[in-house]
Amino acid sequence: MTTPDAEPIAPADAAALTSGASFWTTADVAGVPSFWLTDGPHGIRKQVGSPDHLGLGASEPATCFPPAVGLAQSWDPELAGEVGAALGREAQALGVGVLLGPGVNLKRDPRGGRNFEYWSEDPVLTGTMAAAWVRGVQGEGVGTSLKHFAGNEAEHDRMRASSDVDERPLREVYLRAFQRVVEEARPWTVMCSYNRVNGVYAAEDGWLLTDVLRGEWGFRGAVVSDWGAVSDRVAAVAAGLDLQMPGPDPDGDAGLVTAIADGRLDATALQRGARTVAELAAKVAASRRPDTAVDVDAHHELARRAAARCVVLLANDPVDGVPVLPLAADAAVAVIGEFAEVPRYQGGGSSHVTVTRLDVPLEQLRARRGDVSFARGFTTDGSGDADALRAEAVATARSAQVAVLFVGLAAGQESEGFDRESIELPADQLRLVREVAAVQPRTVLVLSHGGVVRLAPVVDLVPAIVDGALLGQGGGAALADVLVGAVGPSGKLAETVPQRLQDVPAYLDFPGEFSRHRYSEGLHVGHRWYDARDVDVTFPFGHGLSYTTFDVTGLELTAGDEGVTATVGVTNTGDRPGREVVQFYVGVPASTVQRPLRELKGFAGVTLPPGESRRVSAVLRRADLAYWHPRLQQWVVEDGEYEVHAGVSSRDLRAAALVAVRGDEVRLPVSDETTLGELMAEPEAAAAIAPMLGAFGGGESGAALGTDMVRMMASIPLGRLKAFGAGGAAPGDGGS
Ligand code: BGC
Repeated sequence: MTTPDAEPIAPADAAALTSGASFWTTADVAGVPSFWLTDGPHGIRKQVGSPDHLGLGASEPATCFPPAVGLAQSWDPELAGEVGAALGREAQALGVGVLLGPGVNLKRDPRGGRNFEYWSEDPVLTGTMAAAWVRGVQGEGVGTSLKHFAGNEAEHDRMRASSDVDERPLREVYLRAFQRVVEEARPWTVMCSYNRVNGVYAAEDGWLLTDVLRGEWGFRGAVVSDWGAVSDRVAAVAAGLDLQMPGPDPDGDAGLVTAIADGRLDATALQRGARTVAELAAKVAASRRPDTAVDVDAHHELARRAAARCVVLLANDPVDGVPVLPLAADAAVAVIGEFAEVPRYQGGGSSHVTVTRLDVPLEQLRARRGDVSFARGFTTDGSGDADALRAEAVATARSAQVAVLFVGLAAGQESEGFDRESIELPADQLRLVREVAAVQPRTVLVLSHGGVVRLAPVVDLVPAIVDGALLGQGGGAALADVLVGAVGPSGKLAETVPQRLQDVPAYLDFPGEFSRHRYSEGLHVGHRWYDARDVDVTFPFGHGLSYTTFDVTGLELTAGDEGVTATVGVTNTGDRPGREVVQFYVGVPASTVQRPLRELKGFAGVTLPPGESRRVSAVLRRADLAYWHPRLQQWVVEDGEYEVHAGVSSRDLRAAALVAVRGDEVRLPVSDETTLGELMAEPEAAAAIAPMLGAFGGGESGAALGTDMVRMMASIPLGRLKAFGAGGAAPGDGGS
């Protein structure tokens, strides 16, 4: 928090402080020490050669943890915190003051090019995981940068386009994840996005950066621009931007000084920015632990352990009465697919990390199972004879007892900077799946991808599907452990797998055109959409099997000041230890406003030995039960019954109960714009004006017109009643 009565910083110095000194560093001016900001988020990308924000240049080796797309599938905030702490230590060791992450934009559409860097389609899952991650990093004395604030849900035209979002979805869906992280974890910085939000560049949006972020959420850190996001520095500083990156920008600095002299910029705005940067620099300096030693092996072990928890078992049907996974100890295994040998484990662009080491799935499987045959099956660069590669793979699969087929998206097919146009797996890989499955009934698909891929064409061809998304440098070992059963899978999808691209919420409006991205699906993002429209999906949000089975019973709900505490019993009914994640979905059956049928509002994971039971609980926070009231400009918790479901996916709901929640006192101010219907909804007002309605003819003239007069009049604003013969007696006169 800036101190208002501190000595002013000379305007030229203040201006220099509010822009970077280089691509990755801040200015060393007026006694304020310079510090490093670096990507992130799932590993430290401290560049050694010429700098860039596209992941082109070399960077120091660092542990590549599972990117957010993978880590989210753990549904394990504690693990996210552990990974965050390890990242914090690596940042300390490399002299980095602020790690540029986490990215908490939502996966509005599966085609989003940067979905691999974002957590989920859901704000509660995103916010919970990202808050834990921020606490982990910052606990090591390294700042984070919550990005990209806000509305950066597409890459297409990202430096110009406006994300046009209605206020309710903006608040209740897209900003909700940011709000939670700001309020719960206090990130040292927030990075504003390239795009416009409802027509205004995020970097110049005083409502976003000052009124909402600082005023409503109490943010006290620094707002940093995305790299190159500022087109008008004067407007940006006035709106609440503290640090423009990258730098230097001597012309822009001079422009700020001139703008103050001309009276176009309030001097206090620049002072605020400079002081905030100075305070951040002091915090970084005070938190420096230059002697931090990184245990590279231990971090690699953590990367493996984390990756194993992120693996989602999508399907595991029995063949001849026995589930295909875990692989039978004595089965002859054929491994197929280029990704088994050249793994796909992170996304392209600014987050690209130079790994300290890399686990290769084929090697890891061989280390666990000895003799494993291998065929490449396809190449991602189109080299080689496709027919011959496929024929060899089919023969290899046929001569084994089980085939593990690695398919997915190549690095070049998805990246920061552009969106995908399709969610199909490559045609040559689909053909390979069909031909391998035709000769080998025990075929296991292992998927590597950053964005969701359509699985409808393969789901009925193979008995087992393992979703690795992107798992970081330990993914190879993690997959091998899950396949052989050394680790039981427990991951859950953080994003719905739709049947067809045409089914997705933003199908007709993604990414947009002419620099407008219209969020036409409103509140109905992800599972909210599929459930409200009762659309079949291939795998629902929250889905993930394990090698054991669980019962979820006995849901109890208690309403209190904090929200609703949901408690439910979980029993491991199988014969192996395992972890289940119970998800709580909430609906408000008698809501007076539009609401999704059910929304995730909390979750809890539990690991249980066979036969054991435990009760787990989650607080469904009152803040998350509220909707945004655009007229009142405030959050409102509705009074009434809330229906809570406990499930193991958004479509596998095991227990339900109702709970009464005390609502907020809400009173709309009465004015000429208030409608008769709104007034009638207030019991006292209704009693007072009922006789007046008789003056309008009530039932009699209603009958003459063939309508219910009172209902017909409900939408007439009080100020307009005069036109219908109410004379000067409109009840709105005089207000309230
Ligand atoms: C990305 C940010 C990143 C920055 C610095 C931008 O292009 O959008 O996420 O932190 O570059 O590399």
